[in-house]
Amino acid sequence: MFRIDVDNINGKNESLYVFGDESILTELENNNILINYNCRQGHCGSCILQLLEGDVMHQECLVPLSSGEILACQARPASDIKIAVRG
Ligand code: FES
Repeated sequence: MFRIDVDNINGKNESLYVFGDESILTELENNNILINYNCRQGHCGSCILQLLEGDVMHQECLVPLSSGEILACQARPASDIKIAVRG
């Protein structure tokens, strides 16, 4: 079980508790936290979030990411993490 601390997405700070078997995008949606996305396949970059703390595992990732960026549609938590929208 991992904790996802969500820092000010849609004006909310929340903590989610997840098993790590779904993408961060899906976990956020399951908790009514909506972020931008388009392809859901790691191609478009619409779902980029900032990883503030912790580690994630990416599955498909065809978008060049800067340091600290993750693709919400492809990343799953590998530890407790803290994320924020790109600002
Ligand atoms: S939704 Fe396209 S890369 Fe995540």
